[in-house]
Amino acid sequence: MSTQDLNEDTITSAVLARARRAKSARFKKVIGSLVRHLHDFAREVELTEEEWAYGIDFLTRTGQKCDDKRQEFILLSDTLGLSTLLTQLNHRSHGDETEQTVWGPFHRLKTPRFRLGSNISEGVRGAPCFVNITVRDSAGKPVKGATVDVWHSDDDGFYDVQHQEWNGAMRMRGVFKPDTDGRVWFRTILPTAYPVPTDGPVGELLKASARHPMRPAHMHFLIEAPGYDRLVTHVFNNGDKYLDSDAVFGVRKSLVRTYPKHKPGIAPDGTRMTKPYHTLDFDFVMRPAKRATKRATKRAAKKRSTKPRKSAS
Ligand SMILES: [Fe+2]
Repeated sequence: MSTQDLNEDTITSAVLARARRAKSARFKKVIGSLVRHLHDFAREVELTEEEWAYGIDFLTRTGQKCDDKRQEFILLSDTLGLSTLLTQLNHRSHGDETEQTVWGPFHRLKTPRFRLGSNISEGVRGAPCFVNITVRDSAGKPVKGATVDVWHSDDDGFYDVQHQEWNGAMRMRGVFKPDTDGRVWFRTILPTAYPVPTDGPVGELLKASARHPMRPAHMHFLIEAPGYDRLVTHVFNNGDKYLDSDAVFGVRKSLVRTYPKHKPGIAPDGTRMTKPYHTLDFDFVMRPAKRATKRATKRAAKKRSTKPRKSAS
């Protein structure tokens, strides 16, 4: 077809026609849908040239804000709800299997492995918290070969990467191998609610939308095991005032638990505590890979053979 004298009604089909020789059917489907929705968006809002230029500048600055410790694009995806939409599309809930939620921007690769019972807070100030979890299948059997990667914020609502004075030191994060009963236990500090970074374009977007940047207190877990769908999830602290307005839309009722506070005494690991402490108990139920969606299964298998995704700030 001729691509001369295109107008607002014919430009879309002209662009789509250019991709018709693409070898990948999946690519054609994705790029075709992207072009259609992008053009429809511009037509629907009658996008002005000033708004287009602002959008280009916004995305440019979003990219410029990214480095090896910060990923503003993932934060943008999170705060626009795209990450949660993606999670739901790829990991729909089934039965009693633990629900997935967003990665968040603070996961780090090469997190150190700890022995069961270790203290991963590395001396960071905060209320002591003793965590006791299990990793099992829907029949209640321990999952073999599992790896549990945990990370969370400190008492001030910051992750280790946000403390520049720590020079990259890893704190409040660790990797564990469950025992033969599927149990993992460790000591850390109680995580608190925190704001997502607002000193970049995403903060600008939140402010323009009259939205707060807060996330309710939670602990992150990434659990992988051969033959199972990779589990990326949180355990939220019941009673947090931001549970109903999480800045990244990641809260699921099944992931909310009380982190009970105990009087001084003997902690679950036998430690004599002279000040109050908290505990967290949670049973993670893994989904066999064969029950994941066809595409998610393929992706999970591929990703299990590679390193976990590197994430944002
Ligand atoms: Fe988080």
